[in-house]
Amino acid sequence: MTDTALEVENLVKIYRPRRGAPVRALDGMSFAVRRGHIFGLLGPNGAGKTTLLKILTTLLRPTDGRARVMGFDVVAAPLEVRRRVSVVLQESAVEMFLTVRDNLLSFARFHGLRGRPAHERAAAVLARFQLEPEADRKVMDLSGGFRRRVQVAKMFMVDTSVMFLDEFSSGMDPLLKRAVMGYLREEAARGRTIVLTTLVLSEAEELCDDILIINRGRQVARGDLYALKLLSQNLYEVLMTFETLPAGLEAQVAALAPLRLSVHENTLELTLKADEAQVLDLVSALARQGRLLKVEVSGPTLEDIFVELMEAGAAAPRKE
Ligand SMILES: Nc1ncnc2c1ncn2[C@@H]1O[C@H](COP(=O)(O)OP(=O)(O)O)[C@@H](O)[C@H]1O
Ligand SMILES: [Mg+2]
Repeated sequence: MTDTALEVENLVKIYRPRRGAPVRALDGMSFAVRRGHIFGLLGPNGAGKTTLLKILTTLLRPTDGRARVMGFDVVAAPLEVRRRVSVVLQESAVEMFLTVRDNLLSFARFHGLRGRPAHERAAAVLARFQLEPEADRKVMDLSGGFRRRVQVAKMFMVDTSVMFLDEFSSGMDPLLKRAVMGYLREEAARGRTIVLTTLVLSEAEELCDDILIINRGRQVARGDLYALKLLSQNLYEVLMTFETLPAGLEAQVAALAPLRLSVHENTLELTLKADEAQVLDLVSALARQGRLLKVEVSGPTLEDIFVELMEAGAAAPRKE
């Protein structure tokens, strides 16, 4: 047994729609994920996140390259792979005509858990996800947010080695999202590997041990948050709140071509690529122009890094 949960080598997926040009959704991706890690797959819409998850869970065949899950090849041994993974996709199926409880039970049955242990597990999961009042309602009668909750709850019915969650938090209320993030950490601490995709960078920043940023089917950056932050050295976030915003401030700052600039009431926020001395010069120059209530200068957040990397990649032409 190795300590590698996923191995992806030169993975390519080309969709060939009946109409229109072929789409190169994955353009030669290679990476590995360690067991027990929470792995975050980040990228804008259309980056290839869902395609990658579908290949890793055997729902879709790759055009080229290889992928192994817990040592099993997704093309050569799909059944072995399926036994070891559970997945919730963006458009994932919930059985609309089944009740919430029966959705959980049927998912458990698919993974070989039935009878009393399955019922006990379902009771615990219903409680955890605050779904007890809805337990015996048909999913079709629930709101979108509750359906999502059922989809994610299913994942906690079984102990597959690898869990895949595609934008799990979309449409989930913030309190529940917090709770689920805690549950995911517990599962990882027990040795399960978790692969999640998200557009919400702060979520990945908080949750993931390891992050892969992709765009247009290609790797843009890879590493833990620390490594990603090193990638964007000289990136600073500045926040300044004035008693009243000095006139012309925005134009002055815009001249420095910040990566991001926002002015809200009397607060100025910007992300700047510059060395530390330049940033401090700027801050003190601005500070002289009005009465300051608050100043903060900090290193980049994952969101800053993401914006920077996407802008760098946006210039590259897309082949195929
Ligand atoms: N069934 C399909 N047929 C053709 N193109 C597809 C299909 N599914 C996805 N795509 C295209 O593949 C690319 C990657 O899509 P997807 O994996 O869904 O990205 P993400 O999940 O990161 O938003 C996009 O350009 C998308 O339009
Ligand atoms: Mg997607």
